[in-house]
Amino acid sequence: MNTHTITAQSSPNIAFIKYWGNRDNTMRLPANGSISMNLDGLFTRTSVTFNASAQTDSLLINNKPVTGPGLTRVSYILDLVREMAKINERAEVKSENNFPAGAGIASSASAFAALALSASKAAGLNLSEPELSVLARRGSGSASRSIPAGFVEWQMGSNEKDCFAFSIAPVDHWNLVDCIAVVSAAHKKTGSTEGHALAGTSPLQNARVEDAPRRLEICRNAILKKDFEAFAAIIEHDSDIMHSVMMTSNPPLMYWQAATVGIFHEVRAWRAGGLPVGYTVDAGANVHVLCLGEKAKEVEKRLRELPGVENVLVAGVGDAAKIVS
Ligand code: PMV
Repeated sequence: MNTHTITAQSSPNIAFIKYWGNRDNTMRLPANGSISMNLDGLFTRTSVTFNASAQTDSLLINNKPVTGPGLTRVSYILDLVREMAKINERAEVKSENNFPAGAGIASSASAFAALALSASKAAGLNLSEPELSVLARRGSGSASRSIPAGFVEWQMGSNEKDCFAFSIAPVDHWNLVDCIAVVSAAHKKTGSTEGHALAGTSPLQNARVEDAPRRLEICRNAILKKDFEAFAAIIEHDSDIMHSVMMTSNPPLMYWQAATVGIFHEVRAWRAGGLPVGYTVDAGANVHVLCLGEKAKEVEKRLRELPGVENVLVAGVGDAAKIVS
């Protein structure tokens, strides 16, 4: 087998139609399809080396050794790779993010996409894009969407093998920019793995899931036609629906802070005043404000002036996961 070190790089993504809740938690088969865009300029870079003399898998994230649940989750993906490649060697995994932890960007999507690509290549496998997306999905559902380029849809599929993500439009299709307003998160958030398992306890989840094909179609069409008005309306609607499920689950999950809601009001007022913007929020307090590229400077400036906004990160449309060395 190939014993070289393989390094892969992948971007996180922001979901426009959200994934929340699984029909199978172990396999991470989602309750509904989702749509996202990769975030350019932000990435996880992961190196994997299978080593015949290593006794256990090891993991370094940003140069710090990680053991416990973090390592177990990585070993789970390495086990799937070893099974496919029919090898037994343990692996050394080194991973680095170029965006700060707690910046309001889930690193699990880029982390598991980069791991799926680097580990499978290091094991001598040549997986197709759908196969890589399936493998990344087993680590973190949203990671399935960080494998293909640009604007991406993750289809529910009917089984484990056809539940993968694919590109619906390339990077240069539409010059959208995500201005991420980082607000102070006072409470430690409930992780998404735990959150997905609670989705079904909300009486609103069934309605959210049943209505998902309608929202997916509107969002997909808005992206394909570059219709910003329709796009802004559907991403806000979908984000609000997901947070309604979160807030009404048992126990309830309230990710929003006062500053989060303050930004919603501002974004809507800016749009009413002629600035094309729309918001969406993941499992945290930070607000992703989407706009057209030519308005990004103005949106960033306005966000920085708002109370409770600690930082603003700006990202265009990002590429597919790729091997860097
Ligand atoms: O991939 P996970 O398990 O971290 O879940 C991601 C969940 C959301 O970010 C809230 C929505 C999404 O579709 O990315």
